[in-house]
Amino acid sequence: MLDRRGFLSSSLAVSAGLAFRGSLWAQLEALPSKLPERSLYDSNEDAYWREMRKQFLIPAEEVYLNNGTVGSSPAPVLRAVFEGYEACEKLNEADPEDYPIWGYASWNQFRDPLAAFVGCDRNEIALLRNATEANSYIANGVDLKPGDEVLITDQEHPGGEHPWDLRAKRYGIVVKKITLPRPVDNPAQVLNLFSDAITPRTRVLFFSHISTFSGVVLPAKELCALARSKGILSAVDGAHVPGMMRLNLHELGCDMYSSSPHKWLQSPKGSGFLFVRDEVIDRVWNTIATEGWDDVKIRAERFQRIGSSNVPALWGLRASIQLANEIGMERIERRHRQLCDYILAAMLKRGAVSWTSPDATLRCAIATVNVPPLPRMELEEWLWKEKKIRIRGADPHKLRLSTPYYISRADIDRYLEAFDEFRKKKGVA
Ligand SMILES: Cc1ncc(COP(=O)(O)O)c(C=O)c1O
Repeated sequence: MLDRRGFLSSSLAVSAGLAFRGSLWAQLEALPSKLPERSLYDSNEDAYWREMRKQFLIPAEEVYLNNGTVGSSPAPVLRAVFEGYEACEKLNEADPEDYPIWGYASWNQFRDPLAAFVGCDRNEIALLRNATEANSYIANGVDLKPGDEVLITDQEHPGGEHPWDLRAKRYGIVVKKITLPRPVDNPAQVLNLFSDAITPRTRVLFFSHISTFSGVVLPAKELCALARSKGILSAVDGAHVPGMMRLNLHELGCDMYSSSPHKWLQSPKGSGFLFVRDEVIDRVWNTIATEGWDDVKIRAERFQRIGSSNVPALWGLRASIQLANEIGMERIERRHRQLCDYILAAMLKRGAVSWTSPDATLRCAIATVNVPPLPRMELEEWLWKEKKIRIRGADPHKLRLSTPYYISRADIDRYLEAFDEFRKKKGVA
C-alpha cells in the first residue's frame, strides 16, 4: 500500500507525464496535418518551403543555422516514433517468442527503404546508432598488421579519427594524415594529395564525404576508384550526406560507408547505419558479439546484432526517408545549394575569409568562413541570447553556417543583419 508520501510522488509523476504528453501532443497537433502540395512548389518555391517549415518544432522566432551538428525531426518523423512506441510497447505479437527488439533481427522493413534511398542492397546495410559507432566497426573490423597504414585527412571528426587512433595505440597500425587545402579549390588537388601519400603499406583510405570542419564535399567517387585501383580499402564517413545530397553507394564505389541520418535526413537521434559492400563483408570482423556475430549467411545484418535497441527510432528513420522521397531529394539538394550560395556570397561581400570551396560541386549546405578579428564564441553566444539565432564556430574566428531546406532567405537576412550589428558593436564594420 502507498503511504501519503508515496502517493504524492507517484501522482506527481503521473501528472508530470500527462503534462509532457499534453504539451508535446498539443504542439504536434497544432502543426499542419499534411505536407504542402507539390503544386505550391511549382507555383511558388519559397511559399512551399515556408509551409514545410511549419512541420518543425523549432520555434518560429528561432533561426537554426546549425543543422550540421544535429537536425530536428519534423512532425511526420515524430509521429512515426510515437506510433512505433505504441506498436512496440503492447508486446502482443502473435508468436510468443517474438519481441520488438532490434539488435537480434533483420528488420528488413526498415533496411529496405534505407537501402533504396542510399543506392545499395539491403544485405549490405546494418542499422546502428550513428556514424561514430559505424566508424568504430570499420576501424576495429578490418584485418591490419602493426605498421600497416591508414590514410585520413586533417578534417576528420573525432568520431571518425579516434577509432583509428585507438587501433594505432593498441595494435601498432600507423595513421597518416593529409592536410587539405583551405579551401579546396578543385577535385584534382585532393586526388593528388591522396595519391602522393599512398605507400606500399597503405591498407585503407578513410575520409569524410563532407567534412565537419569545412563542409567541403570531397571527390569521393574518384578517391574510392583510386583506392580500388591499388587494392586499398575505401571507407567513407558520410555523416552529413543522406538527406543533404543525393547518394548512391553503388555508384560511389566505396567499400564501407557510415552515417548519422539524424543530421540532414532529420531522422531520430540514434538511427545510424553502416554500409559494407557485399564483396567486402566477409573481410570485416564484428565489434559487438552476440548471437549471429559470425554468421556469414546473414551478410551485413551480423553487424547490427548489437543487443536490445530502440525500435521506434527505426520507425522514425523510415518516416524521414519517406518524407525526403515525398519532397524529392533533387529539390532538397537544390534548395540546400541555393541557400548555401546565398549565405556564402553575403559573407564574402562582408570580407569573410572563406574555407568553402569556390567549386560549386565541392560544396552543398555548409558554408565555412572566418571573420577576424571577431571573437567567434562571443558572437555565437550573442547571436543566440540576443537574437535567437544558432550558428556553430571554432576558435579563433571560424563560423560554420548550415543551410537546411527548412530555413528561408529571410532567416538568412536576419542572421546577416545581426552579424552586421555585432560587427558595428565591436567597431569592425
Ligand atoms: C563527419 C562526421 N563524422 C562523424 C560525426 C559524429 O556523428 P555522431 O555523433 O552522430 O556519431 C560527425 C558529427 O558531427 C561528423 O560531422
